[in-house]
Amino acid sequence: MSKAYSLLNIGKIVAGAGCIEQIKDIVADYQAKNVVIITDQGVWNSGLVEKPKTLLEGAGVNVHIINDTPPEPTVDQVNDIFQAANEFACEMIIGIGGGSSIDTAKIVSLLLTNHVNLRDLVKGKVQIIHRGVPTLMIPTTAGTGAEATPNAIVLVPEEELKVGIVSDKMVPDCVILDPTMTINLPKHITANTGMDALCHAIECYISKKANPFSDTFALKAITLISRSIRIAYNEGQNLAAREDMLLGAMFGGISIATSSTTAVHALAYPLGGKYRIPHGLSNAILLAHVMKFNLDATEEKFKDIAIAMGINVVGISTREAAEKMIDNLYSLISDLDIHANLRDKGITEDDLDLMVESASKVTRLLDNNPKVMTKDDIREIYKKLL
Ligand SMILES: [Fe+2]
Repeated sequence: MSKAYSLLNIGKIVAGAGCIEQIKDIVADYQAKNVVIITDQGVWNSGLVEKPKTLLEGAGVNVHIINDTPPEPTVDQVNDIFQAANEFACEMIIGIGGGSSIDTAKIVSLLLTNHVNLRDLVKGKVQIIHRGVPTLMIPTTAGTGAEATPNAIVLVPEEELKVGIVSDKMVPDCVILDPTMTINLPKHITANTGMDALCHAIECYISKKANPFSDTFALKAITLISRSIRIAYNEGQNLAAREDMLLGAMFGGISIATSSTTAVHALAYPLGGKYRIPHGLSNAILLAHVMKFNLDATEEKFKDIAIAMGINVVGISTREAAEKMIDNLYSLISDLDIHANLRDKGITEDDLDLMVESASKVTRLLDNNPKVMTKDDIREIYKKLL
């Protein structure tokens, strides 16, 4: 008998240019009169919150804005945001932004109904019993897929550790994917976050935890992202490309929730943790090298990915199709002006021991890689980035 696998459902997903207009209908469905919007300074300053706020206020909803979610928030910072939401007698939480705002919105929603201490929750000392207050997520980047996952990351500073809280009860109730919310995303963020989403899809497809649910969403994500990432990068205002990227990122998130990422994300951990290289960029520079390493173990799946990417594989062997797929990943990085050199980030051979040690501890992901990766293998891959 095969292992069991599951698919978590978001209650309602609305997609398409201009669909932000539906925010008032969604909030009305939940009969919420007091809502809290959780966002960050960048999104707030860009004016993106103005429209949803005006639409809700026009419908008679009281809107309380929390606009200072920091990147990678700590336990205490998330707690402060929870306290602010709690004082407002909040009935619905709306997360607008990238992964940090959306993850914070998920945690705050849970804390509002479960009355547990966040530090205890992070340490696994208490359990989540109830679903949180209803949540609506509106991503303004197309990368993390956080709007589709039951996970939220929070930083525990005293332990220099990022901890993932996982609860099925944290899967968002509603998601709005409106490409007009992403058209002004800067080029390098479009590239980095888009590559993160592509990594999610490819890794979930080749993961040992892959299953028919993740296969379906991952392959579609690969198609959408492959056909549109260059266009979204070069013509930021292209709504069709931005829509593909939002859908692709969310399908990547759905894939993570039912399968898992693998060695790319494992090796990206030390780059983000110690050297502060953005998450998407870390994954982007690792992707092709890790796939080259995996080639022998997963040729057939690489051929599927090649086809999903629109690569012509007619009349060539499975091996050749798989190699073409990897070549395509290298050219994609170059087309997005992503430079794969860790020396520029101040990393040298002297740092390798620590990086290898740290990556090899991410067994939660490494164990799902289709090919066993030893410490020597990890070292060889990092060396290629120097
Ligand atoms: Fe990621």
